[in-house]
Amino acid sequence: MAVRRIKLNGKEVRADYQSVVSGTAESSEQLLHWLREQHGQIGPKFGCGISQCGACTVLVDGAITRSCVTQVHTVVERAEVRTLDGLSKKNDHPLQKAFVELQAGQCGFCLNGMVMGVLGWLEERMRNRNRTVPTQAEIKDFLSGGADRSKPNYLCRCGTHYRIVAAVEKAAKEMLR
Ligand code: FES
Ligand code: FES
Repeated sequence: MAVRRIKLNGKEVRADYQSVVSGTAESSEQLLHWLREQHGQIGPKFGCGISQCGACTVLVDGAITRSCVTQVHTVVERAEVRTLDGLSKKNDHPLQKAFVELQAGQCGFCLNGMVMGVLGWLEERMRNRNRTVPTQAEIKDFLSGGADRSKPNYLCRCGTHYRIVAAVEKAAKEMLR
C-alpha cells in the first residue's frame, strides 16, 4: 500500500510511501523530515541524525522513537504519532510548565527530546500501573540512557541538568496526582 493513514497529534493525515524517484520502491524519507517539512512540526529537531542525541524524539503508538532514523514507510497504518507541537493547546502540559517555571534548559533545541522522551517514559510507567513518582536517581538514569548504556540518552550541554531533573520530578508529581 503506497498511501497510509496516520494519526498525527489526533488528526488523520496521509503518508505516501512511494519513492518520488522510482515511483514504486518504498521511500527512504525519514519520519523527522516528513514531520517537519510536510506537516510543519517544529518540535522535533535535527541534531545528530544518527540516534545519539534525542533531539528528534517523537512517540509512535506510545513508543519513544528517534524520528531521524525511522523511515516513514515503517510507520504502520493508523499509527498514532505525537510530537511536542501537539502536546497541549496553550503549552500548558505539566512537563512544559515545569520546564519553563524551573528554567530547565538554555538553548531549547534539545528540550523536545527530553520532554517527549520523559512523556513516553512516564506514560509507559502508568500503563504498567506504576504510579509512583520516579526518584531523582531514576530520572537521571532515564535521561542518561541507563548505567549499561543500552537505552537511548538525551544530550544537553547547557549545564542545567539539575533543573531538568527537578522539572521532570515536578511534572511527574502533577501527572501522577
Ligand atoms: S537527531 Fe535523532 S537522535 Fe539526534
Ligand atoms: S537545552 Fe539545549 S543544551 Fe541544554
